Amino acid sequence: MKSKEEIYYRYPVFRPPSEAYSLLIQVTEGCTYNCDFCVSNIGKIFIVRDLRDIKKDLDVAKQIYGSKVRRIFFLDGNAMVSPTEKLLEITRYAYKTFPYLERCSAYAHAKDILKKDRNQLIALSDAGFKLVYVGFESGDDEILKRVHKQATKKDYIDASKKLMKANITLSATFINGISGADTPELSKKHASESADLVNKICPNDDRVWYIAFLTLMVPSGTEIFKKKIKGEFREMDSTQILEELKIFISSIEFRNHEANLVFRSNHASNYLPLKGILDRDKYKILDVINYGLTHTDVLRPEYYRGL
Ligand SMILES: C[S@@+](CC[C@H](N)C(=O)[O-])C[C@H]1O[C@@H](n2cnc3c(N)ncnc32)[C@H](O)[C@@H]1O
Ligand code: SF4
Repeated sequence: MKSKEEIYYRYPVFRPPSEAYSLLIQVTEGCTYNCDFCVSNIGKIFIVRDLRDIKKDLDVAKQIYGSKVRRIFFLDGNAMVSPTEKLLEITRYAYKTFPYLERCSAYAHAKDILKKDRNQLIALSDAGFKLVYVGFESGDDEILKRVHKQATKKDYIDASKKLMKANITLSATFINGISGADTPELSKKHASESADLVNKICPNDDRVWYIAFLTLMVPSGTEIFKKKIKGEFREMDSTQILEELKIFISSIEFRNHEANLVFRSNHASNYLPLKGILDRDKYKILDVINYGLTHTDVLRPEYYRGL
């Protein structure tokens, strides 16, 4: 009897929480960067997979799930680094295979976006590659350098504007607590520079865009873990985390009052689930943070936190 075909995955794979019900297609393996806090690269050698293998996975997915797939997420850590022609071909093939498909999306490092020109981004958007998840982590250049992010605040501003102009939706993540417990001034700078970055990229229209705050986890094998073991890095406690977030939220000020920024801090790594529209819900969010600071029993216990 012929054994059932399977979709290829190079485990472990990581996807954004909002892609929980999406079809995951392995386009690349690993990541071309090596940020201090990230596990995406551990045990993987970076490759862009062969086009025939990716198309075969889409065919196998159709046999398994039928034709009604609506969302596809291209793995891995920065699938956007793949050559544009290849991404276009995969996206077009995906829409041909799944006629009800609404969007394809991927993780991207800011530099992966900046390396593509305007026409390439527009072509991707027109083909149905509609959403990109970018890890900003911080708007503060000193922190970005420290964690070896290989991107600057200016890169984020330029990449965000470029995406928005091409009509590709931006979903950016920041890391609460990334500066550690021993540098309170840097934590304040992280919060205010991150808010300044968000204020600067806010578009002048009512399109929906997204930012999420995760809270730093220190997984074994990462550079930040090694620093922690050597006593060179200490994680913030929940109070420091929420105080940092308070500065960020308080510093959000959009001139465009039509702005539709969906803010979320409700990931498994977060102590307190928060969501709202910025800057409309700013004071409601601050009220919830203040509640969390005074009622620590509502916070997620340390042992339930994860990535
Ligand atoms: C798998 S990465 C992909 C992002 C993309 N490659 C980039 O760098 O722009 C997804 C995001 O998860 C978050 N993340 C990764 N490791 C983390 C950790 N140890 N603690 C908290 N958040 C983390 C970061 O915000 C990161 O950008
Ligand atoms: S955060 Fe993004 S760019 Fe950095 S190592 Fe992880 S996947 Fe790669």
